[in-house]
Amino acid sequence: MNEQLQFLANRNSAPKLCAPGPNADQMAQMIKVAMRAPDHARLRPWRFLTVAGERREALGGLLHEALLQRNPDADETAQAKARNSPLRAPLVVVVICTLSEHPKVPPIEQRQSAACAAHGLLLAAEALGFAGIWRTGDAAFDRTFMDAMELAANEEITGFLYLGTRDGNAKPLPDMNPDEFNRYW
Ligand SMILES: Cc1cc2nc3c(=O)[nH]c(=O)nc-3n(C[C@H](O)[C@H](O)[C@H](O)COP(=O)(O)O)c2cc1C
Repeated sequence: MNEQLQFLANRNSAPKLCAPGPNADQMAQMIKVAMRAPDHARLRPWRFLTVAGERREALGGLLHEALLQRNPDADETAQAKARNSPLRAPLVVVVICTLSEHPKVPPIEQRQSAACAAHGLLLAAEALGFAGIWRTGDAAFDRTFMDAMELAANEEITGFLYLGTRDGNAKPLPDMNPDEFNRYW
């Protein structure tokens, strides 16, 4: 494999992240990469909310409130997990899919495009020496939470990308044989 392919083949999510995270310049570069996602009819069916520093606590507050709305009996452990989850990384990027009506581009294609953008952002983070992990969880599908984040009715959460510096050793990559997944038909 050449160097570029090796880089792509070795992307590895990092469940444990620490500072530093990408700065504003680096984020701008990464978003540029993300926006090269394949995009039928160039609808740009994505946008990003980057949450850093103290704003992560505000995000945690909304996640906590949304949890209590979904489950008023949530125990203290679950509440603390919701409140503190954005603090697991220096930066959390909320990837949002903005759905448009289009005669040739059904919603699934727009969702796939936003998902590709999320993947592009993870790859770009790694290219800059950072690491990340894509998470969802109940809040990602919770309209109350989306409203609190001021998403429009035609918007959805594609994922929360936690970004920063890998904390500890990289986990081993799975050994997957391409021939098991690809056949010439
Ligand atoms: C749409 C989507 C949602 C995910 N949600 C979570 C999640 O909520 N929590 C989690 O631990 N991993 C989640 N993952 C999986 C991780 O991002 C990651 O892929 C997994 O830990 C395997 O690591 P790898 O990507 O390095 O193989 C999600 C992945 C995708 C594509």
